[in-house]
Amino acid sequence: MNKIAIAIDGPAGAGKSTISKLIAEKMGIEYIDTGAMYRAITLKLLNRGVDIKDIQSVKDIVDETKVELINGRVYLDGVDVSEEIRMPYVSSKVSDVAAISCVRERLVYLQREMAKKSSVIMDGRDIGTNVLKDAQVKIFLTASVEERAKRRFVEMKNKGIDISFEEICNDIRNRDTIDSNREINPLRKAEDAILVDTTGKTIQEVVDEIISIIREGA
Ligand code: C5P
Repeated sequence: MNKIAIAIDGPAGAGKSTISKLIAEKMGIEYIDTGAMYRAITLKLLNRGVDIKDIQSVKDIVDETKVELINGRVYLDGVDVSEEIRMPYVSSKVSDVAAISCVRERLVYLQREMAKKSSVIMDGRDIGTNVLKDAQVKIFLTASVEERAKRRFVEMKNKGIDISFEEICNDIRNRDTIDSNREINPLRKAEDAILVDTTGKTIQEVVDEIISIIREGA
């Protein structure tokens, strides 16, 4: 198989990571969760108590930070933070951090480096429009807010995280608004991306649909 890049974008809770992981396994390619990278930087800034309006301090921290994705785990400066980065206190701040230009510049650079090395399926908000503009296949995955919030609620309950359905709806709406309206690389469907609405579909149905799009497009 020639080297392939698949870009999956969409709003919070559309099922991007679940679907991308399954497709990566099926195709034997790397899965890169770019949201996890923004979450890891956010966790570090929160732990350090940095005021995110203080751009110089944010830049200093970002420049000295190592974020790695290894075998489905997320490492921040060598420490596995895969669970912490999913906590509501990180989710509620991540979109503000992701709107800062020096954060995006650094992470986009790292994401492109990863995609140079091997075939990837990369998910996020700006993959098809910016990070991997030349990706052979671009998908914009979406679902109704209610369905996305329901899925997140079940996921959080299964992890034993105490959060109400209403809080999840608010978090999703808030992040969608910030992600879609920020100045730099906002959440948008790339013109050449194929829209896949996952509302009412099973995971398997969506995986099959995307695999057949990949087979046609690659
Ligand atoms: O994908 P996930 O919901 O974990 O992403 C967390 C946040 O990271 C998003 O709400 C968004 O603010 C930011 N993000 C981004 N660009 C990406 C991936 C994520 O701005 N490519």
